[in-house]
Amino acid sequence: MKICMAGACGRMGRRILELAAVADDLEIGGAFDVPAFAGTEIVAGAESCRPKMVVVSADAETELTKSDCLIDFTAAEGCIANVTAATKAGKPSVIGTTGLSQAQVATLADCAARVPVVYAPNMSVGVNLLFKLTGEVASILGLDYNVEICEIHHNQKKDSPSGTAVRLAERAAEALQLEYGRNVAHGRQGMVGARPRNQIGMHALRGGDVTGEHTVSFIGQGERIELTHKAHNRDNFARGALVAARFVMSRDPGLYDMQDVLGLK
Ligand SMILES: NC(=O)c1ccc[n+]([C@@H]2O[C@H](COP(=O)([O-])OP(=O)(O)OC[C@H]3O[C@@H](n4cnc5c(N)ncnc54)[C@H](O)[C@@H]3O)[C@@H](O)[C@H]2O)c1
Repeated sequence: MKICMAGACGRMGRRILELAAVADDLEIGGAFDVPAFAGTEIVAGAESCRPKMVVVSADAETELTKSDCLIDFTAAEGCIANVTAATKAGKPSVIGTTGLSQAQVATLADCAARVPVVYAPNMSVGVNLLFKLTGEVASILGLDYNVEICEIHHNQKKDSPSGTAVRLAERAAEALQLEYGRNVAHGRQGMVGARPRNQIGMHALRGGDVTGEHTVSFIGQGERIELTHKAHNRDNFARGALVAARFVMSRDPGLYDMQDVLGLK
């Protein structure tokens, strides 16, 4: 199975190439990035003493024709163009890129009517378990326990709140019969008054080189429960992306998430 890496020169792209190069059942069919990085030579697999040279292209269509599946960790607009190109070529996609608008997610759904697509803002096993636990804890505790979500990421992250934090809030909202658009409060400033009962708080910290941390607090009278996930490095996301690639290549068209991939539904 040959993967095509979109965003090959990025933080995630490089880790996925590193791990794909040493996976016995995978090959790197293609790798592309923006034109400024065309011609970049990446030695993937060197950490495991199995080095393979990958020359990064800027030609998505050509790289896709050499591959069985697209893996995209880029940025929202580019991601949609890449998935559209993969769909035209009849190739499935795995999308880790975050910060997509509702209209862009709708475009993914259109693509997924023709080819299988995995779209997951967080590909780690631990975070996907956290999604499930957040829904379960929220539905057990109900609105008597105030849900507040706090995420921390490195100072280069472009979108806020993180796609993972958005998904956590969606899970809590669903369990509490609230709506993300109406009930999530992003930070608080000034004379905001007492916290409404039907609110989910969202807070984003940025700094240094933090890979990613998410805490969901359920705060009641006299006690609170906190569910926390801390990513030590990017390999948990990269491994998840490769698991998703293996999954997506054997599926019928449809829009899947990591809960499907990991059998957590
Ligand atoms: N789903 C997950 O588990 C997960 C984990 C970490 C990061 N992410 C997300 O993945 C994305 C990338 O993260 P990163 O830390 O690697 O970012 P990054 O900025 O280090 O890398 C992004 C790369 O994509 C390239 N790029 C931009 N537009 C492109 C296009 N149209 N075609 C090809 N390449 C393009 C950039 O040049 C860059 O090399 C972000 O949206 C991030 O939030 C998701």
